[in-house]
Amino acid sequence: MKPRDRLRIAMQKSGRLTEPAQELLARCGLKFRQSRDKLFCFGEGEPVDLLLVRDDDIPGLIAEGVCDLGIVGRNVLREFQLTADSSVPRIEELRPLGFGGCRLSVAMPQEDAYTDPSQLGGLRIATSYPGLLGEWLRENGVEAKVVMLAGSVEIAPRLGTADAICDLVSSGATLNANQLREVAVVMESQAVLAGPATLPTDERGDLAELMLRRLDGVIQVRDSRLVMMQAPRDALDAITRLLPGMPRPTLTQVDGEPGQVVLQALCAGAVSWRQLEEMKKAGARDMLVLPVEKMLA
Ligand code: PRP
Ligand code: ZN
Repeated sequence: MKPRDRLRIAMQKSGRLTEPAQELLARCGLKFRQSRDKLFCFGEGEPVDLLLVRDDDIPGLIAEGVCDLGIVGRNVLREFQLTADSSVPRIEELRPLGFGGCRLSVAMPQEDAYTDPSQLGGLRIATSYPGLLGEWLRENGVEAKVVMLAGSVEIAPRLGTADAICDLVSSGATLNANQLREVAVVMESQAVLAGPATLPTDERGDLAELMLRRLDGVIQVRDSRLVMMQAPRDALDAITRLLPGMPRPTLTQVDGEPGQVVLQALCAGAVSWRQLEEMKKAGARDMLVLPVEKMLA
């Protein structure tokens, strides 16, 4: 394969992860020229290109070196780790990304009774995740027949090709529409950044490091708020206790008012009206709550 000097990131072409993944990359300063076939997007500004593919293909594409990084569900990555041939390079979760939350669950027809995993013994369970389901069945000491299906898993019980399924559940609408009931959670999942266990040592490695630093900057501040206010020095303890995450504030002396300080604090979460009102009662005034866009320590 000819060496590349541009970093290539794979993500889902169309699906639940597509929009939030694009938004995240935009926040990391990446801009893409949309190509006509929309499979390959050329990165403008930074030498980072985007490959839009089926989510299930992403870990394999990284392992083959076609892409350097990927945004993919933890479920897809873990399944790949469990089922890939040992000769294939290891692909790891580099960062959880905090969106696309869902779970891989076992579901049964609504009318079927279920109290514990042992009841799945001897049943046929349809899934696209034979590795993860197999591991869970072993851990629970259940012997069941795993029926591998690439898609439309939820229809299997009605077609009579399986007694239960193991599939992703997000809102639960798909299960409901198919008269299925979630009975056991096999794993909790969310979108993650996946990449090789060791990053390339050339320019792409440096670019990958740059991307990780920017991602950290975006992820860290995504739910953060910058709070500014003026407060009496002797009320600082009480006020700091009311701030989410109990941050260590930066204080600035107010000219001509020795007992007063301006406080600035990066809080690890939303600040409610209730909290502001409590701080006001404690003596704070001129309070401002600001969203944070980027952070570089
Ligand atoms: C999953 C799963 C269900 C659906 C569940 O598919 O296969 O079809 O989402 O979501 P719900 O509980 O909100 O109805 P996904 O979007 O991950 O696509 P894929 O498995 O075909 O890649
Ligand atoms: Zn998929």
